[in-house]
Amino acid sequence: MEEETVVTEIPSLRTGLCWLSQADAMDCYASWPSPACIVSDGAYGIGGFDGDPSDVGGLEAWYRPHVARWSEASSTATTLWFWNTEIGWATVHPLLERNGWKYVRCCVWDKGKSHLAGNINTRTLRQFPCVTEVCVQYVRDRMPSGQRVQDWLRAEWRRSGLPLKDANRACGTRSAATRKYLSADGAFYPPPEEMMERLREFANANGDPSGRPYFAMPEGRFQPKFDCPFGMTNVWRCRQVFSGERVRDAEGRPLHPNQKPLQLMEAIVRCCTDPGEAVWEPFGGVFTASAAAALLGRRAFGAETCARYYEAGAARIAGLAGKEDGRLF
Ligand SMILES: C[S@@+](CC[C@H](N)C(=O)[O-])C[C@H]1O[C@@H](n2cnc3c(N)ncnc32)[C@H](O)[C@@H]1O
Repeated sequence: MEEETVVTEIPSLRTGLCWLSQADAMDCYASWPSPACIVSDGAYGIGGFDGDPSDVGGLEAWYRPHVARWSEASSTATTLWFWNTEIGWATVHPLLERNGWKYVRCCVWDKGKSHLAGNINTRTLRQFPCVTEVCVQYVRDRMPSGQRVQDWLRAEWRRSGLPLKDANRACGTRSAATRKYLSADGAFYPPPEEMMERLREFANANGDPSGRPYFAMPEGRFQPKFDCPFGMTNVWRCRQVFSGERVRDAEGRPLHPNQKPLQLMEAIVRCCTDPGEAVWEPFGGVFTASAAAALLGRRAFGAETCARYYEAGAARIAGLAGKEDGRLF
């Protein structure tokens, strides 16, 4: 018999809705809108939850179907945050690259020494005690068609029949358009929003009328957003989730061993999304990224297979009503 999928729509949150499902994320992706941000905190290859491979060797196969779906649903404006151990991330990185995700930066979560329970015998351990996880930022390097962004930009300009040098006129730059935005080599970087708009307008106004439209793409931003507070770096010193924030079971015991600090989830969601945009949390646990998204007025779409985690996470989100837009970080 098929298991029933439970979907909780929490309309009490003022800004938009929060969609949480007790289901396999693979069964949810098709119903979620294209994301501005995906927060992945899934398998670590340490046997941490039902279905987590016992070894990092199993991670690529575990993530493969998810990465394929993220890639199909994302746009050039999407940011992916990939949480894992350093070796877990290193193992999955080639898969992400092959699917058109471009590495931006590895951020290190330093949980501090309080994370070390009791005395650690480094003589028997024969390594430095580990107090870190990583959260790695990726952006899309592909158009929805699967074409590389660089190739698409050059192909669209070529298609318009306009001479390459006219791109500089279109952008009001001396040489940046030809040297960077339409370059074939490593000097390439994608045009900022305003320049993208100028290229599009110019090509559609002056290019071969039979090939219009040029540079057609989905509504919204072309580039992913990034905007972080001054002084914040890629080393995040933040202790493990502490008592008040910890989601507990009916007996008051900590429920989820991997619950992430809300302030870190808030920082990554805030910097790459605007209010109203869609944030995906496919491996919800107790839905910390969805909680952060809802507090910030973003729309959250989350899945969790385990009933106990799902119920506690959904109750947690419902309890946030009225608190959105509160600054946490
Ligand atoms: C590392 S935990 C996430 C913790 C979460 N970030 C938090 O702060 O609570 C991963 C969770 O993903 C869930 N999970 C694993 N595979 C899943 C899938 N295919 N779809 C939905 N949830 C899944 C597991 O049950 C586990 O609770």
